[in-house]
Order: sequence, then C-alpha cells, then structure tokens
Amino acid sequence: MTKTDVLIIGAGIAGLTTAIKLARKRPDLKILVLNKTKEGETNTSYAQGGVAAVWDESFDSFEKHIADTLDAGDGLCDPEVVEIVVKEGPERVREIIGWGARFDKEDGKEEYDLGREGGHSENRILHYKDATGWEIQRTLGEEVDRHPNITLHEHYFAVDIITQHHLGFTITRVTPGIECYGTYALNRKTGKMETILAKATVICTGGTGQIYKDTTNPVIATGDGIAMTYRAKGRLENMEFVQFHPTGLYDTAGENPTFLISEAVRGEGAILKTREGEEFMKQYDKRGSLAPRDIVARAIDKEMKMRGAECMYLDCTHMDKDAFVKHFPNIYDKCLSIGIDPMKDMIPVTPACHYMCGGILVDKRGRASIDYLYACGECTSTGLHGANRLASNSLLEAMVFAHRIHLDLLDRIDDIDWQEGIPEWDTLGTKQPNEMVLITQELKELREIMSYYVGIVRSNLRLKRAMDRLWILYRETEALYSASTISPKLCELRNLITIAYLVSRSATMRRESRGLHFTTDYPEKLDFLDRTVV
Ligand code: FAD
Ligand code: SIN
Repeated sequence: MTKTDVLIIGAGIAGLTTAIKLARKRPDLKILVLNKTKEGETNTSYAQGGVAAVWDESFDSFEKHIADTLDAGDGLCDPEVVEIVVKEGPERVREIIGWGARFDKEDGKEEYDLGREGGHSENRILHYKDATGWEIQRTLGEEVDRHPNITLHEHYFAVDIITQHHLGFTITRVTPGIECYGTYALNRKTGKMETILAKATVICTGGTGQIYKDTTNPVIATGDGIAMTYRAKGRLENMEFVQFHPTGLYDTAGENPTFLISEAVRGEGAILKTREGEEFMKQYDKRGSLAPRDIVARAIDKEMKMRGAECMYLDCTHMDKDAFVKHFPNIYDKCLSIGIDPMKDMIPVTPACHYMCGGILVDKRGRASIDYLYACGECTSTGLHGANRLASNSLLEAMVFAHRIHLDLLDRIDDIDWQEGIPEWDTLGTKQPNEMVLITQELKELREIMSYYVGIVRSNLRLKRAMDRLWILYRETEALYSASTISPKLCELRNLITIAYLVSRSATMRRESRGLHFTTDYPEKLDFLDRTVV
C-alpha cells in the first residue's frame, strides 16, 4: 500500500501542470502522477493548432474571446467560467513560457506569431509550428524533472477510485458525502494490483475519442477517468456533445489515430471545396471555411452524403509554399508521404471524432461531486465549452483549472488525513482471460455501433439501435470482467462501453438540436436551456 499526499491520474497538460504548480509551492508534499503507458502518450502531445489567449490588446480583447467562446458553445456555456478562463488564460500561458515553452514569433521580431482558427474573430492562437502539444508536453516533462517531490509512475493503470463502497457501504447516485481515498492501480510491469491512498486525487485522464472508428485521438483516449467517476457514482454532464474535427486526413481514416489537418491551415487561408473545386461552406455560414467546428463538420457530412462522396477537399494550392512549410512542417511531410503535394493537390479530408466537451462535472475550484476528488482537462465539464468547444480553448482550460485546483488544494491539504481500513484488491475466483479475441472483437463492434448510430447526425431510431446493441456488449463484458484477472485492454473496453452508453443516453435525453448534438427528430433548438446531468 502506497500513501501519497496528492495522487494525479494522468500525465498530459492537466496532470503535469497541476503537479508542477503544487510542487513549486509545497516542496514538502508527496505528489504521485500515474501514466497508463509511457511519457508523452497523451492527447496533449498531438495538439497541433495551439493555445488561444488574448495576447495583443491593440486589436483583441477579453470581450471578443468571451463572445467567440459563448457563440461556439451555442447557449450552454457557463458565462462565469468563460470569463474566468479567458481572463486568467494569458497569465497561465506566460507561466508555461517561463518554464521553457517556445511559441513561434513573427519573422525577425519579438512579437508572437498569432494564428487564427474556426470561430475566432481575431488572431489569438499561440503555437509552435504545427506541433504545439509536443512542445508543451516536452516543457512540462522537463519541468517535472526539476521537482524531486513529484514521482511519475509510468505503465500504471488506474482501474477504479476508492470510496466508501470499498469499505462495505452501499453507495447510490443520491448518496450524500461520497469520498475518494485514492485508487486501485495495475502496475503493468509486475502485473500486480496496488492500492494507492491519497489525501486528494485529481483525475486528468483526457478524452474518449476511441469510442469511434475514426478519431484524431491516440489509443490512450478511452475515457477511463470519466468511467471510473461514473462507477463511483460521481456526477457527469453534457456527454452528448462529442466534437468531430472537420478535417481528418482522408487517406489515414482507418489508421488509428486519423492524422489531423489542423484548423490553423484554414486560419492561414486554406478553403474547403468539393472534388470539382467548388467552395461550399458559404452556403452554410457566412464565415465560410472558418465557421465553428460543429457547423463545418455537419456541412461536410451533408455534402458527402448528398454527393455519395467519401471525402471533401482542402485547397491550399494558392498559399505561399515557404510560409506553409514553415508553419506546418509535419502536415506538409505527412501529405507528401502519401503522395499529396499540398501546394499542387487539394488535400482529401473527412470528419473524425476529436474532443469530448462533456465529462466529470466540476466546480470553479475543479472539485468533482465526490469529496477529495478533483478533475482537470478534457475529462471534465467545467462549463467552458457548452455545446461545442471553440478551437484551441482546451489547452487553455487545462492550464487555468490546474492553477485553480492547486490553489484549492493548498488551502485544505494539511487538514485531510488518509483513510484507514482500505482493503487490498480482491482477485478471488478470477483467472487470466484466455480469449483476447473476444476483447478485440467487442471493441471493433463498439466503435462501429457508435460511428453508424451516434455520429454527427443522430435520430431516435439510431440511438435506440445503439443502446440495444451496447446493452449486449455491456452484459458480455461485465461477465468477462468479473471472471478475469485485471488486464488493461479489458478495463479499457469496459470503460469505452460505459462512455458509449453515456454519450448515447445523454443524446437520447436531449430532445433538441444544439451545438454538436444534431438529431433529425428534433432539428430545432429549444428555448429552455439545460445541461444534461447523469
Ligand atoms: P491527455 O493529454 O490526453 O493526458 C491523459 C493522460 O491520462 C495520459 O497520460 C494517459 O496515459 C493518462 N491516463 C488515462 N487513463 C489512465 C488510467 N486509467 N490510468 C493511468 N493513467 C491514465 N486542444 C487545443 O487547445 N489546441 C489544439 O491545437 C489542439 N489540437 C489537438 C490535436 C489533436 C490531434 C488532438 C487529439 C487534440 C487536440 N486538442 C487541442 C485537444 C487537446 O490536445 C486535449 O484536449 C488536451 O491535450 C487534453 O489534455 P489532458 O491533460 O486532459 O489529457
Ligand atoms: C487543430 O489544430 O485544428 C486542433 C485545434 C483544437 O482542437 O483545438
């Protein structure tokens, strides 16, 4: 049994920023960070476009960034949270620059080269070429190494958070005062389950993209933290709002993950076109190719279905080659590697699942509904994104909430004690699953169900089909789980089924079309606004 002051599950921008901030203020605290695979296997590392922040007030303002975020969120953002993130954001970006993050500057100048993405009314995206996330992950990794009181355990898979349930109490969704005491985690190197007790636990497990066949998210994005919180009877919200990025590279759809063509490419002037070279986005929104993502992804989906086409195209052929290669070296190389020269050929693109806007419900301090449990980053629902996230607001949100969580923890950590009497993980009656093929086949089925029935356009019939089929997968997987020793693949499958169920159920509950949720049965928006809480 390990005891730590603060346990952080996840080592992307949310987890590492929280750890660093605490460690800087309190070198005496023991901070343990778990990462289920190896360093840098995070959604964070994949981020391309950058971090949105009001940087140059000669043309930009907090009011404009707030208005753009609220507009993208389609009526469901919490305006107070939007104001907090937008106003506190620039200071958090300055901090990470102080830790060594290099964002691109204008040629020969000291000013940052600010990019633009869909839904932004001004240029405000700080970036490092088209690999901003890689640069942030590198910076944070190096900063973590400077703090001896942070321990980073790689290949540790958190299976469930520990609550009073593990002390033998019956906990339901309406039980008041549920508390978190740490986690049971599988040490993948020894194959042993370990009990990790913490005074406070912060879930930073990232996204859920792997519930779909085509996703820009790496394979770690299996929604573990959201599923764990749900099993522990914590509150979640807005799980129906799954963001599809309009421009996954068509030729890599089917690869896992799908390669992303950053929205920043459209910010620099690329235009969405049909195979015949017609610009089509202006029919859908006056902002054309730079409309918010929900609108662009739905328009592409509609055009593809109308034309029986498998993709649409991104035309960059009019752009300056040197500037393109300088800003987007990875995108340029990737296209060339599959025989597409972006300066001569249009890039074939198709929407791919990209971001989970809902998640663990947290308050403005980052506290979840379970006591001593916090959550940060993509696994949360803070109120910032509402029904659709504005591009490049995710990295910003993680930094702002990591800061808020560290402030709240500094206030209370000395008053919290470890819980006594927690039993070790019970392996009685379980054996090694001998048919791994059952797990891989169920995963394949799950991703097909979600892609066909709970995609960009939904309907009552499709959602019902999804729920019926998910129920079968759920029963089969639970039976396998209770008879098997713990394996990460089986745990991930179980978590993905939970996430898929929550997305489908929340989508069924929302009887209107708003933001990222569009259903042919209720195509209008309701006047009555509410979040979907489960
Ligand atoms: P992650 O960075 O995904 O980290 C999750 C961590 O949790 C990992 O270390 C993982 O191993 C760990 N973990 C998960 N489950 C467990 C478990 N059971 N046990 C132990 N550890 C676990 N956002 C922007 O703002 N700007 C962009 O330009 C941008 N571009 C993007 C491009 C791509 C291709 C993608 C996929 C996303 C992009 N996003 C962007 C979104 C953004 O990158 C993510 O939302 C953000 O990085 C999430 O950070 P996080 O710390 O919450 O999660
Ligand atoms: C992109 O670069 O297009 C992704 C930006 C984001 O998801 O915020």
